[in-house]
Amino acid sequence: MDVAIIGAGYVGLVTGAGLANLGHSVRVGESSSDRVAMLEAGEMPIYEQGLPGLLARARERQAISFHNSNIEAIEDADLVFLCLPTPESPDGRADLTFVHAVIDELAEEVGEDTLFVIKSTVPPGTAASLRKRLADLGSSARLVSHPEFLREGRAVEDFMEPDRIVIGAYERDDAERVASLYRSIDTSIVITDPTSSEMIKYANNAYLAARLTFANALANVCEAVGADVVDVIRGIGLDHRIGPHFLQPGPGYGGSCFPKDTAALIAVAEDAGYDFQLLKAVIEADHQQRQRVAEKVRQAAGGGLHRRRIAMWGVAFKAGTDDVRESPALRIARLLQQDGAEVVAYDPEASSDELTMAPDPISAVTDADVLLVATEWPEFGTIDMKEVAAAMKGHRVVDARNLLDSAAVRSAGLDYWGLGRPGA
Ligand code: UGA
Repeated sequence: MDVAIIGAGYVGLVTGAGLANLGHSVRVGESSSDRVAMLEAGEMPIYEQGLPGLLARARERQAISFHNSNIEAIEDADLVFLCLPTPESPDGRADLTFVHAVIDELAEEVGEDTLFVIKSTVPPGTAASLRKRLADLGSSARLVSHPEFLREGRAVEDFMEPDRIVIGAYERDDAERVASLYRSIDTSIVITDPTSSEMIKYANNAYLAARLTFANALANVCEAVGADVVDVIRGIGLDHRIGPHFLQPGPGYGGSCFPKDTAALIAVAEDAGYDFQLLKAVIEADHQQRQRVAEKVRQAAGGGLHRRRIAMWGVAFKAGTDDVRESPALRIARLLQQDGAEVVAYDPEASSDELTMAPDPISAVTDADVLLVATEWPEFGTIDMKEVAAAMKGHRVVDARNLLDSAAVRSAGLDYWGLGRPGA
């Protein structure tokens, strides 16, 4: 099929390159001319594992092209995917400015058989209001909701081997048209109405945020009662009703999705007359988790942070990405800096202007009072802790991802403080 993708961000590029590799002809419209020039030159505007290869294969087959004009991108398109950002407004609601602007721009340009596919994360009810907008503008184009479930760092894998595909349509034919794009992929397809489809996306992210916040709370209780959260989570994860995934305690959730989507779902519920207290408590607990980790670092530094040098391994919001948006590492670093600490960070991919960045993990810990592990990059687990101990001034390691081998840290002569672990 001929597919237009509007927005060459992380969702648009993975979706566009993925569809091109499934045999479709893809034209990507992007408002940044710099980004279009980069993509045309075969360069990557974002770091996403597997995406360069996927794009290169699509280009070799001449199945993808990039355009600095949306009108040019939708030429001959059967389906127009909207892959635009929906950032958080100051009141917590999703800001739909980009989506509205593109619908207005394209409403009269598309043919009557064209199907708009809303990939962006939008509040329940958005498809219904966009459909009305199209009708008001005299367009007979149709519209479906088709949310994405791509994890940064694993987005290509999630596109090619999805757990499920969700399509919310007004007409069965429209849902089948979208489903037929994925004929070569063996997975479950959930077909529903657009509002339920929009709700599935928010419910998914809100549940995952709540789940890992529950794991963080368990870690805090384990710490208080002297239990080991690693064993506790293994113990509960073997219950099929619970499962082992997405239960790793950490410094709280970050990234471009969970914080905004949890806030947006609370606002959606509130507008509809429901007070979503459970989710409000999740956000509050997540907020406290960062403060707890910062407090642990303060204790590790001897009770005060003034002029203390804190080495931080990890800046990205999670491993496998260079993305620092809403990164818990950065939020904790800010709390430490506010109390007078100097934070020297190392990350294999990410960096931040707010911090002194070190070129390697050992330079970061040189003369440090405390080492904080803030992102779960596997390579941190392979660093020789004896070398770390020799370079540090202090002798305490706060492992906010429970990543390091605590025995190796201790045998190097350092104190190991994990989350929810004995001796923490
Ligand atoms: C998330 C969802 O997992 C995707 O399905 C969804 O498509 C995407 O948001 C989106 O809405 O676009 P992502 O933001 O890439 O994907 O990140 P996750 O892997 O879900 O991690 C989110 C945060 O939770 C990270 O800060 C991570 O470190 C933290 N986390 C995750 C934990 O602290 N513990 C865990 O066990 C899992």
